[in-house]
Amino acid sequence: MTHSILGDMDIDDFRRHGHEIIDWIADYFEHPERYPVLSRSEPGDIKAQLPTNPPTHPETMSDIMRDFDAIIMPGITHWNHPAFFAYFGITGSAPGVLAEFLTAALNVNGMLWKTSPAATELEEVTLDWLRQMIGLPDDFKGVIMDTASMSSMTAIAAARERLGLDIRRRGMAGRSDLPRLIVYTSAQAHSSIEKGAIVLGIGQENVRKIPVDDNFRMNVDALRQAITDDIAAGHLPLCVVATVGTTSTTSIDPVPEIAAICREHKLWLHVDGAYGGVAAIVPEMRHVLAGAEFADSVVINPHKWLFTPIDLSAFYIRDPHILRQAFSILPEYLKTAEQDSVTNYMDWGVQLGRRFRALKLWMVLRTFGAEGCAARLREHIRIAQTVAADIDADPDLERLAPTPFSTICFRVKPHDLTTGNDDIDVETYLNTLNEATLNAVNATGEVYMSHTKLNGRYTIRIAVGNIRTTEEHVRRAVALIKAHASRLDGEMRVGIESAK
Ligand SMILES: Cc1ncc(COP(=O)(O)O)c(C=O)c1O
Repeated sequence: MTHSILGDMDIDDFRRHGHEIIDWIADYFEHPERYPVLSRSEPGDIKAQLPTNPPTHPETMSDIMRDFDAIIMPGITHWNHPAFFAYFGITGSAPGVLAEFLTAALNVNGMLWKTSPAATELEEVTLDWLRQMIGLPDDFKGVIMDTASMSSMTAIAAARERLGLDIRRRGMAGRSDLPRLIVYTSAQAHSSIEKGAIVLGIGQENVRKIPVDDNFRMNVDALRQAITDDIAAGHLPLCVVATVGTTSTTSIDPVPEIAAICREHKLWLHVDGAYGGVAAIVPEMRHVLAGAEFADSVVINPHKWLFTPIDLSAFYIRDPHILRQAFSILPEYLKTAEQDSVTNYMDWGVQLGRRFRALKLWMVLRTFGAEGCAARLREHIRIAQTVAADIDADPDLERLAPTPFSTICFRVKPHDLTTGNDDIDVETYLNTLNEATLNAVNATGEVYMSHTKLNGRYTIRIAVGNIRTTEEHVRRAVALIKAHASRLDGEMRVGIESAK
């Protein structure tokens, strides 16, 4: 190996280490069970093993990889593990990983068509394929963003631009002519909607979190009433964000009814399908996006449940002209001869520099095909439905929300539960038991699940989304929950007895 004070790594070294790293990745995919799914690091553990000063002299890739294995890997929580069921079990895939190598090798900045025509045109084509796969009408045009948070914020910015209040030029501060702008979304919507409103100067208190029904879906009557009340108060309704697959329970808002209200009041409708929207690729799940055909914008996240390494969010908008109106600024150094006849994606949002993300989606879609994508998603849904039915049949478990996709919300509820102590409330007991159970199971390192609270109840979530997850993995998670809950329940009851 040679080290030069100038230039890049020696090309033969690059080739050799490149092969070694591919082998490392293949082993990682083949034997994920060698790592605990949830990292066992304590805060500061990793930093304590790293030098505080930067390296002065060159180091070998072998030394760097040794530290990667010894220091970095113990601090990794394995999102790509088949028993990762927390949050939304996202998944990369081998073609996505290979594409990331090429993206890094090319290091393209796709800010303008000219700065890599293929990056722009592949993004247009690939997002149009995905649009067809989920059944959106062909007047939706797509752009890749890093995350759904950014996509939804961009949607709200577009809605604001469409109001024609000259906010782009004059801003919002100090304007007595501007009413309060109001964003509507459900109480179960993702926090990114509120964040978008914060960034855009709309303000948290102008985000109406519309109550949900028993199945965690936006209550349409409450939405209608909130809009009427706001108009009566002199406020200006701006947009409604409906969710297809809410974060806690994956509930699906009644988008067709919400779309009708939006039409009536000329409100922008944005559909947040970050997790659930991709399910529409499965023909018999197409209905989940019913009503999205009336939306002004839609986001789905291939980096959540479409085998594409993070990050890649697909943002669809009916009228990209609004985005250009909201965001395009053309200093001399960014002008190009063909600017009026091509897509320059820098005009479609906040960021100028853009990674060549379309390549990984292209490779994933081509490697699996629409049918292969649908088959894998269908299998995740089947596994979740099967296990949800088992949970319903189990006298010691209770499902706490419907399971429209591949995420199960449930809790342990021992069938013979009485605390035997009037001072101890059963719901409080169950919350403590379920939290302790989840922590104990996650500490085994075999699986990783996360939680939410539904109507005050501590809820365990199993989100199936990894390309390598099998029914066995999910059954094992439930078995671990049952075993640890039974032990902890016994211990807690003894504790209560002895405290009497
Ligand atoms: C419904 C929904 N919308 C938006 C987001 C935010 O996604 P991102 O991390 O891509 O910003 C999430 C994240 O889980 C989500 O569940």
